[in-house]
Amino acid sequence: MKQLKIVAVAVLFAFMACNPIVEKSGNEIDQKVENLLSQMTIEEKVGQMNQYNGFYDATGPAPSEGDAKNKYGHLKKGWVGSVLNVKNVKEVREMQRVAVEESRLGIPLIFGLDVIHGQKTLAPIPLGESASWDLEAIEKSARISAIEATATGQNWTFAPMVDITRDARWGRVMEGAGEDPYLGAKIGAARVKGFQGDDLSADNTMAACAKHFTGYGFAEAGRDYNTVDVGTSTLYNVILPPFEAAANAGVRTFMNSFNVLNGIPATGSRFLQRDILKGKWNFEGFVVSDWGSVAEMITHGYAADLKQAAEMAVNAGVDMDMESYAYVKYLVELVNEGKVSEDKIDDAVRRILRVKFELGLFDDPYKYCNEEREKKLLYHEAHMNGALDVAKKSIVLLKNETNLLPLKKSQKNIAVIGALASDKTSPLGSWRVSSDDNTAISVIEGLEAYGKNFKYAKGPEFVTSEVSFYENVEINATDRSGMKEAIALAKKSEIVIMVLGEHGCQTGEGRSRVNLDLPGLQQELLEEVYKVNKNIVLVLMNGRPLAITWADEHIPAIVEAWHLGTQSGNAIAQVLYGDYNPSGKLTMTFPRHVGQCPIYYNHYSTGRPGPSTGVFWSHYTDESNDPLYPFGYGLSYANFEYSDLQVNSTGENEVTVSVEITNTGKVGGEEVAQLYLHDKVASVARPVKELKGFEKLYLKQSESKQVKFILTSKELGFFNNDGEFIVEPGEFEVMVGPNSVEGLSEQFELK
Ligand code: BGC
Repeated sequence: MKQLKIVAVAVLFAFMACNPIVEKSGNEIDQKVENLLSQMTIEEKVGQMNQYNGFYDATGPAPSEGDAKNKYGHLKKGWVGSVLNVKNVKEVREMQRVAVEESRLGIPLIFGLDVIHGQKTLAPIPLGESASWDLEAIEKSARISAIEATATGQNWTFAPMVDITRDARWGRVMEGAGEDPYLGAKIGAARVKGFQGDDLSADNTMAACAKHFTGYGFAEAGRDYNTVDVGTSTLYNVILPPFEAAANAGVRTFMNSFNVLNGIPATGSRFLQRDILKGKWNFEGFVVSDWGSVAEMITHGYAADLKQAAEMAVNAGVDMDMESYAYVKYLVELVNEGKVSEDKIDDAVRRILRVKFELGLFDDPYKYCNEEREKKLLYHEAHMNGALDVAKKSIVLLKNETNLLPLKKSQKNIAVIGALASDKTSPLGSWRVSSDDNTAISVIEGLEAYGKNFKYAKGPEFVTSEVSFYENVEINATDRSGMKEAIALAKKSEIVIMVLGEHGCQTGEGRSRVNLDLPGLQQELLEEVYKVNKNIVLVLMNGRPLAITWADEHIPAIVEAWHLGTQSGNAIAQVLYGDYNPSGKLTMTFPRHVGQCPIYYNHYSTGRPGPSTGVFWSHYTDESNDPLYPFGYGLSYANFEYSDLQVNSTGENEVTVSVEITNTGKVGGEEVAQLYLHDKVASVARPVKELKGFEKLYLKQSESKQVKFILTSKELGFFNNDGEFIVEPGEFEVMVGPNSVEGLSEQFELK
């Protein structure tokens, strides 16, 4: 076998020397790709387009029966381009060895994994992290994920998810950056940079993947995998921009999505993948299907059978088939029948090989396989510090009415209540395919660093089943054991910290909910405790906006702590005691009631917006239109005042906006100043407001700073319904403030 390979390489060099196409092509990698491509049989080409889930224990004996034997045979024949979910160096090395040493051309595999918010050391879930509005911290967090993931042999992450999400019922809102395309684009780009670094060929950077292309976040009724039907304006102005930003940031791969978009499965959409992504945006990386999404075109009623699904997918621009077995089974046949051109196959293979060359896999296929490094880097102290930093920044202070917070360090007689307070797994959140259970610092552990000034009562059990990514969690709704003790403890305490919310495994893929309440007996527990002690600090741990309207009306202090990852309890304790002044702001609107979903700040105006008396205006008869907490909202232990808003036209299609911000509070703190724009009359109606700038800044006590924003065509324009970006003259309103509903505003005219 080895000898054969040497022959192949020799032929390859000879080919390089005399092929005129090579001289013409742009760069060294393209030449290498062309040369290799010319050596490949059609079966080997199709093989590069085939991705399998890890199908055998690579460190054990080779599979000798069933499907695994078949796939193992494919691996040896060079009919597998990538494998996902192979989780450690030993296994990666062994599988890579088979591909490199036993297949004819020895093309290395690319190893994919969902490294969503960390490998072992976990950062907050992405929705939580987005609440930091801190692009530097977010990029650093992705960098840490990449360092740990590559140390375990991975070189491709299926992140970032840049789906815009407006419906809190959808379980995957935890995986993205919330509802705003402007912020989502910036965060997506920062995460791409973090994963890919400056040099993709380094051994601690990995290819990123913008997913899910597209519309997945708009699943009807928030039910996962559901139909998506959206208008052109929303598609161009809301859904696509974060993907385009990821492409511009150099993301090497895209993943398409499970859903039907306006009648066509995204996986089979030429419009999305060929016209927009590879056409208009000139994307040069490759597109992988979502898990089995090629085959799902059959159940969508779009393809008659797997063979037709393969034909449709490849013609639509899907370069790699994840786990549908459609390409490996039918593409060669389809090429022979003339239903798929070899040019399309070549194009797909070129894209895949290019990424492999860029990663440096041909120079050293084992470059990510070093057990020493693996041992040294997982849970590295520097990563733990980074995770703590971003976890603190992700916390959002929702309410602090009687200045119950920050807690005084001398405060005695504190009760801590709630099963989640001692949970060391739930705070890790969802989408953590490689992490270890029981590795989060719990709230109790975090508080212990501040002394033994509290007593803990768990209250009723929260989860009554084993928790796993693959199973639904069962929540206790009947067994009230523990309730009495918790109430008794609250009664004799001065302050009660209640830790309530969702279990980490109640969010993520396949975890849509129709209720946005505190699940199980938690609401009852909260109300019972409130009856005996009103000094409650509610610490929420959840993966989606919750409709905690009762709590907002009654509980004096509320802290949104998401699922903050490994350093959860430390971050929460530092915020509760004021060692870190909270600076996070919501990136998804919190509804007052689940019936308001989807609810988002950048909506259009109806013809009857109100508020009005009577019946015939756009409203609910049994709930207000207002959110519980708006997009961009979050408090601090400091106070920030906005003054002196100035708007000046500084050039053609350029407007400068400045504002003065003063910290009038008693401590230093960070504020996220936000700029919103409203184009008042346009050829396609524009939303009532849209975020078009933000800056996070630190202000010492009594300090003032001027913040300046420059609006250019990019911020002033929009996509019309033909997908063209245009800037129209006319009246605009600009607002600058601490969130999407408060602030100073001015009008200006764009000439
Ligand atoms: C998810 C993707 C993920 C893939 C591989 C799918 O079910 O939708 O986001 O990357 O599985 O794990």
